[in-house]
Amino acid sequence: MLDKLSAQAPDALLALIKMHAADPREDKIDLGVGVYRTNEGGTPVFRAIKQAEQRLLDTQDSKSYLGPEGDSGFVKALMPYIFGKDSTLGDRVEGMQTPGGTGAVRLAVSLAAKAGVKRIHLGMPSWPNHAQILEDVGVETVAFDHAKADGTADIDAVLGAIRGAGDADAVLLHGCCHNPTGIDYTAEEWTAIAEAFAETGVLPILDIAYQGLGQGMEEDVEGVRTVLAKVPEALVAYSCDKNFGLYRDRVGAFYMIAREADQVSAIASNANALARANWSMPPDHGGASVRILLEDEGMTRVWLEELDEMRTRMRRVRARLAAADNEAPGLGLAALADQNGLFAMLPLSKDQIASLREDHAIYMAGSGRINVAGLHGGNTEKFIAALSDVTKG
Ligand code: LMR
Repeated sequence: MLDKLSAQAPDALLALIKMHAADPREDKIDLGVGVYRTNEGGTPVFRAIKQAEQRLLDTQDSKSYLGPEGDSGFVKALMPYIFGKDSTLGDRVEGMQTPGGTGAVRLAVSLAAKAGVKRIHLGMPSWPNHAQILEDVGVETVAFDHAKADGTADIDAVLGAIRGAGDADAVLLHGCCHNPTGIDYTAEEWTAIAEAFAETGVLPILDIAYQGLGQGMEEDVEGVRTVLAKVPEALVAYSCDKNFGLYRDRVGAFYMIAREADQVSAIASNANALARANWSMPPDHGGASVRILLEDEGMTRVWLEELDEMRTRMRRVRARLAAADNEAPGLGLAALADQNGLFAMLPLSKDQIASLREDHAIYMAGSGRINVAGLHGGNTEKFIAALSDVTKG
């Protein structure tokens, strides 16, 4: 039986981690997988998370099962940050903990499919795992263009996708810090998107994986809130992997917004059943740590300061890259200063990407995506020089 399985290509991003690790060159630069890095190139545990983990260690008196919904204190503690302190969603929203943002997206797509969704419109390029999850769940991906050549969002394409969607369609959008382009919708564009969803009744699936790493904690979810204020129902996938630095602990949340409050428990019971059949219940440690952090004013302050430091550092790198393009046009970096989050797409050919890796020990995704956070004071100038080398003439 098992011999019928043919070999699958390894996940390209995860394979890149291994290739970079195996490269003996000391000045190698990892711009591959999306993890934040400090100015020294490390990905340390957040100070606030260390404090919360210590308290968890000191106070946790049982590791008995919770349930498919996970730590509901964690799920509730995140809600004011996502939906706003003055959210009017009230009892129309219910959430549950998931294994990372991936678990949340998986649950959103599976629940949509269970409710009758057959096709999901997805702006391309997107995080490669989006299309992979859709395929695995058995939902068709309908692609539209996310971005225009000038480095801004293709608003006509997303509005066309929403307005042209059929009865069994949903539309999946990145809430902020678009992966892989870094190109987000403007406030005016989000308003137009919200109106299109409201007028058509198409189900929005909103994926928020980088809150706080674009323009700010509040700013990064203004678009999502604009949509949620106008639509009757929506699904929201959330990741704490990046903004709490909990990558390997797999911490995410999934929220369902129903038309009426009395429909919420039926919807959530379906999500619970799907979770039970997939992973039974999410891992506890990271979610419990986030709950402890968010319930403590001091730890929350430290966490927000850490996020500010990260965001400011990445904006500095973006500004430097855009300035380099100004000094020597043609590097494809000009639009980066106005984009958000960890990622940017560079207009490089396969050969140029290979040359950056082989000749300069610079590792990036095959799509031309770079992780801006992989650049810092010690390697940015080398990167600019290498880019200039592979793009000249
Ligand atoms: C990325 O896109 O690099 C991250 O979201 C990590 C992942 O799981 O792919």
